[in-house]
Amino acid sequence: MTATHRDAPTAAGSGANATDRFKSDKTTQGAGTPPERVNLLAREVLSAVHETIRRHKVTYEEYNALKAWLIDVGETGEWPLFLDVWVEHVVEDVATEHRQGSRGTIEGPYYVPGAPEQGARGSVPTRADEPGTPLVWTGQVTSTDGPALAGAKIELWHADADGLYSQFAPGIPEWNLRATFTTDAEGRFEIHTIRPAPYQIPTDGACGKLIAAAGWHPWRPAHLHVKVSAPGHELLTAQLYFPGDEHNDDDIASAVKPELILEPKPADDGETVSYGFALDPVRN
Ligand code: DHB
Ligand code: FE
Repeated sequence: MTATHRDAPTAAGSGANATDRFKSDKTTQGAGTPPERVNLLAREVLSAVHETIRRHKVTYEEYNALKAWLIDVGETGEWPLFLDVWVEHVVEDVATEHRQGSRGTIEGPYYVPGAPEQGARGSVPTRADEPGTPLVWTGQVTSTDGPALAGAKIELWHADADGLYSQFAPGIPEWNLRATFTTDAEGRFEIHTIRPAPYQIPTDGACGKLIAAAGWHPWRPAHLHVKVSAPGHELLTAQLYFPGDEHNDDDIASAVKPELILEPKPADDGETVSYGFALDPVRN
């Protein structure tokens, strides 16, 4: 690759990468769903579709447009993008409604396990000329039972100042803006990174076509993704947002919650922010 050339990111590119990632990770999950449950859920979803068709007198033209669009979603590998934007937030709500600790939100399609370990205090990997406002984030991981959690893992991943994710958009080093931190003896951590840009759902693919056809907008507010884990505690998957982002109130993925909005403060070189996590113990 020459230093001056960078391929433009495409929906088909990030979609195919997100599909490959999902298949290598999670395709076998749910394989044991019992037939009664499949019967119940499939029947109810289909009934909701039938009901919509009757209520709105859906035409053959509209039915064929849907068919063509669904084929397109598959061919461009955009099922992970589609589901994570328009469906995952409800699954996440249901999965975490029993929790007492920190609120989470959707994972989205761009998590990759195994990001480089940086200890309790350190920087995410960046390019030498990484654009974006420097951000220093300090915090503590505790249990909702009280104690600080030493050795808790914080996996962080986020978009760059162009709104692009490493390993899903072309021309970005593999682990750029992805790292794993481990809390110290007091459960504390200090992370040096940059503020990401808002993320735009790729507009050139099937999801983009739906957004354009429906007259929606393709934006998610700027966000940091995290997975926070500790032995004996439930895994917390969350995203953190920045105050004043125009899309905090109308995120296309419906994943913003007020508890997840940071309060950064200006610093000499960029911004500082304090934000910690309380994890729920696993109770059987
Ligand atoms: C999508 C992208 C994200 O960065 C995210 O956090 C959630 C969803 C998507 O394109 O589907
Ligand atoms: Fe994201």
